[in-house]
Amino acid sequence: MIQLEGITKSFGSLQVLKGIDLTINKGEVVSIVGPSGAGKTTLLQIMGTLDKPDAGRIVLNGVEVNRLKDKGLAAFRNKEIGFVFQFHQLLPEFTAEENVMIPLLIQGVSGKSARREAEEMLSFLGLGERALHKPAQLSGGEKQRVAVARALINHPSVVLADEPSGSLDTQNKEELHRLFFELRDKLGQTFVIVTHDEALASQTDRTIHLVDGKISGESANPFR
Ligand SMILES: Nc1ncnc2c1ncn2[C@@H]1O[C@H](COP(=O)(O)OP(=O)(O)O)[C@@H](O)[C@H]1O
Ligand SMILES: [Mg+2]
Repeated sequence: MIQLEGITKSFGSLQVLKGIDLTINKGEVVSIVGPSGAGKTTLLQIMGTLDKPDAGRIVLNGVEVNRLKDKGLAAFRNKEIGFVFQFHQLLPEFTAEENVMIPLLIQGVSGKSARREAEEMLSFLGLGERALHKPAQLSGGEKQRVAVARALINHPSVVLADEPSGSLDTQNKEELHRLFFELRDKLGQTFVIVTHDEALASQTDRTIHLVDGKISGESANPFR
């Protein structure tokens, strides 16, 4: 599903990623943990084609993404990769439904179909009643679920989440985590989640430990 080989990345004289090899399989929920500054966000951004490595290869769903350029890369990213960030990053002037429609519209889906699909996705995530609200009218947990709906709407190969529950209270955090596993079980959705939350990490299939730009170890979680 995702293969990273020999990924390195520097910002100026600071080498942030020092040779990352990693394979993520379809339907896996993989967590990435490590101290602040270890390079987790950089790794996720590179995995998501939002940033380019200095060296190394990334193959996503059989496509060597290093070879894609501008328009082709943007279209590939919009279709194949869903993102969930710590802060929802919804557009404030649009309703929940419109925010979820945007990746479909970029993909060339008609307004009418996009609205219907967005409605269905929001209902599926238990947000049917909230479709016409703007982000400011939603709770933190609801905003994050709308962000998940937006990430899922194009049925991406993988959802990449960077501390998705980092800004939520305990109850909303647990609900969001439950949602990830439900989506994996129901849809076979693959997730890569950067997290500081040990409870979440321990529930994922595999935890990758990143320290100082290198994978220092990996633990399988046999009890989930
Ligand atoms: N765009 C950038 N320019 C310069 N330095 C950066 C940039 N992005 C990240 N860094 C640096 O790279 C290191 C790793 O950052 P990051 O990937 O955000 O770590 P983490 O998510 O594990 O906390 C940090 O020292 C950070 O300051
Ligand atoms: Mg980070």
